[in-house]
Formats: sequence, structure tokens, C-alpha cells
Amino acid sequence: MYYIGIDLGTSAVKLLLMKSGGSIEKIVSREYPLSFPHPGWSEQDPDAWISAVKDGVRELAADIDASEVAGIGAGGQMHGLVILDENDKVIRPAILWNDGRTQEETEYLNNDIGTDRLAEYTGNIAFAGFTAPKILWIKKHEPENFARIKKIMLPKDYVNYRLTGVHCSDYSDASGMLLLDVKNKKWSEEMLSICGISLDQMPKLYESYEVVGTLTKKAAEELGLQETVKVVAGAGDNAAAAIGTGTVGNGACNISLGTSGTIFISSDTFRSSGNALHAFAHADGAYHLMGCMLSAASCNKWWMDEIVRTRDYPAEQKEISADRLGKNHVYYLPYLMGERAPHNDPAARACFIGMTMDTSREDLTQAVLEGVAFGMRDSLEAARALGVDVKTSMICGGGAKSPLWRKIFANVMNLTLTIPETEQGPGYGGAILAAVACGEYSDVKQATDTLIHVTGTEEPDPALVALYEERYHTFDRLYPALKELFPTL
Ligand code: XUL
Repeated sequence: MYYIGIDLGTSAVKLLLMKSGGSIEKIVSREYPLSFPHPGWSEQDPDAWISAVKDGVRELAADIDASEVAGIGAGGQMHGLVILDENDKVIRPAILWNDGRTQEETEYLNNDIGTDRLAEYTGNIAFAGFTAPKILWIKKHEPENFARIKKIMLPKDYVNYRLTGVHCSDYSDASGMLLLDVKNKKWSEEMLSICGISLDQMPKLYESYEVVGTLTKKAAEELGLQETVKVVAGAGDNAAAAIGTGTVGNGACNISLGTSGTIFISSDTFRSSGNALHAFAHADGAYHLMGCMLSAASCNKWWMDEIVRTRDYPAEQKEISADRLGKNHVYYLPYLMGERAPHNDPAARACFIGMTMDTSREDLTQAVLEGVAFGMRDSLEAARALGVDVKTSMICGGGAKSPLWRKIFANVMNLTLTIPETEQGPGYGGAILAAVACGEYSDVKQATDTLIHVTGTEEPDPALVALYEERYHTFDRLYPALKELFPTL
């Protein structure tokens, strides 16, 4: 049998075909546009996801017997607000996870409702990218759209709806709405009332590996598959990536270096962090803590594509020899889209600091790679402050393909990093969830124990760790020193 994994990302959807036994037979990708209608805003057309998925699945399954496709599972960009009217039509473009327009609403939630009450209702505090502040923004700025809302959905849930006709979500992705009582896995009536919405506007909740339905006749025809194909609830992309790298079980850790950067720490029990880390449900049925930086590999992409103007990233990185590591006098703050963890500050901006007449292009390229690692270290410190002891982590995502960047991460974080054989995080995770739902494995843990293999490790070097430790403590002081200036820029 075959399973299709969907990674519904911010710039593209990546689809993969997994055969029983775990081998990846084919990968297809379709890009779609992202719009920034105002500085700090970020939107996308949900119907562009649907066209991309349909087109991509047709190509994915073109060379196989379609009757052998048994299941579909998606991992999707989290937090995005998709609103549907009474005819299930999209009311306005989705407001995405990296959109920073909701500073006022976030402050209202954290200050007026109060972080204690938010933590009591949901286990989390408000961040600008979360879904609840977006709903409050629509209520205030687009009351005519707010009045038309019949259903509130997350990005991959809208895809699942278009495939099955079922309004559904899963606990991992729903955790990022700030509307879910994460510990008790139910919608928080208090939060719904604070946002002025009701239970019937919310999708039905499932575990990530549960089947929400089968393909509708229309979807089956459009995808070239059979109506019997099972669609699982799927997961937020970080939880799906964690499944795809085998980050399951207490204390297991995964670092994802995609457009966003996340550190994901799996936990058997629910534990509210009360600080910058998110306390969310995991796709294996348990929980996790997560720190998210809004711009990670996207910092390097911006620097390479827009400023250095090259597509040859490895050639630029080749110039950064081992003896330069830990000695860079230039620092880079990675806040191109504001920052989530740990600063929770949509007004923060990226900057280089510490340049002199002898600063070179290589120093700046290196500073960008190091600045992202320092930003991630901030979240690791927040986890350590909670008593979470992490010594090794998987690393995945586009940025993790760079051996230099992996080395910088291992030494800045002082972690042994393990590299999964299959570098297809969320899509592979989605396919695994579908295989579990179709009975190939007894549960998610058995599936990942069987399927996930490691190809290599990056060990920290104590001398380099010491050099980076010193530099991290300078990095650590830069944001507080600049914080007051950012809103005036
Ligand atoms: C996680 C987050 C991002 C997006 C990226 O909280 O906002 O990682 O899920 O797609």
C-alpha cells in the first residue's frame, strides 16, 4: 500500500509518496505566493493550497496503481486563521503564523485578560502569531467579515475539509490557536467567549493519527484516487516533523531549521511553561514544549538571495573556514519578522552590529548563521530554566542540510545533533500518521521506532563551545539594549 504525506508549508506544499515499509518513492512540490500587504503582515490564499495539493497529488500518483493509495496525512503551517462563511467559502485571505499585526490584541489578552488566566484556560500565553488574537483583530477591523464567520479553521484543516467534507482539527495544531484547553484536550469555553465566538464555529477535534473521513467523490476524481482513501487529522508542521524525525517519548528533542526555527521537546505529561515556550499537544497523543523563532533559514535565504544575490549557498559558506568559528566580531539579530520566542515582540527588527573597516562579506554571512543559532539558544535556555535537561537533538529542515550551520548549532547549543536519514520532516510525519491509522503499526511510537534511522551526528567541541558561550552572553544583551528603539524604526 501507499501513503501520501502533505507538508503544507509557507512558500510551497511538498507531497511525498511512502510505500508500506517506509521507503519514499516520490516527492513533488508546488509553490504558491505569499503576500505582505503591509510591513509585518503575512497572508495567503487558501484556495491556492487546494490547487497546489490537487495538482501535486495527481503527479505524485501518476505512475502507480491509484487503488493502492490507502491514506493521506498532512502536517501544516500552524496558527493561520482561515474563516469560512455559511456556504463554506473562504471569507478573506488566511492570516499566517508570521503575521505581526495583532500586537494590540496580544497585549489586551496578556495584560487585560492576564497571562495567569490565559495559562489557566489554555496552558499558554498570547503571542502575536497565534489564532485567537487574529480573531480579535478581525472582530475589530473587519466586523462585516467577523459577522459572516461560520467556521474557523487552520491551514491543513482547510485542506482536510476540502478532501473529506469534514470540519476537523487535531490537538497539536489546535494547541496553537490559544482556544484549546491543551491539558484536557477540549475547546476552552472561556477563550471562545473572550474572542466572541461559539463552540459550533469550531472544528471537531481528533488525535493526529485518527481518521476524520474518506475522500469525497469530487476530491477523489480531482486527485485521481479512490473514494476509500482514509484521511487522518494530521498535525501542526512541527509535531509532524517531530514524528518524521522520530522525536517521540519523554525528553526527545528536535530542532527544525525551516522558514521558522523551532526547538521541540517531547513530554509524556502536560507541563505549562508559563514563559516563552509553548505547551502544546504532540501528534503521538502526548505533549511537548516548543520555542519558535519566526525567521530562521529565511534569514540566510534573505541574506543570500536579496543581498549577496547568489543561489549558491554552499560556495558562500565554503569561505567560512573552521578557524573563524567562535571568533566573529559581528553579531546578527534574526528578527526579520519580529520575534516570537522568547521576546514575544512583533516590533523587533533584524540588525548587524559590531562592524569595523575590516569586516568582510564572510563575517556577515557567518554572523547570520550564528545569529539564528543564538536566537534558538534563547529558547533552549528557557527550557533549561524549567529544569528540562536536553543533551541531544535531531536536526531537520532546509537549513540543516548545511554542515557548517549544523556545526555552529551543535557548538552554540552545546548539544549532540543527530541527522535523520530521511530529510522530509512534516511530509514523512504525515505519511507515518496515515500508515498508523490504516493499521500498519500499532501506534506512532512503534512506527517511528521501526522507520526512523539516523545517518550521522554532529558532536560539540568543548573548546568551540567555550568560545561560543562567551559570544552568546554578548548576543543575549543586545535585544534588551535595543528593545526600546525598535518601535520607533
Ligand atoms: C510554530 C510556528 C511555525 C509554523 C511554520 O509555532 O509558528 O513553526 O508552524 O510553518
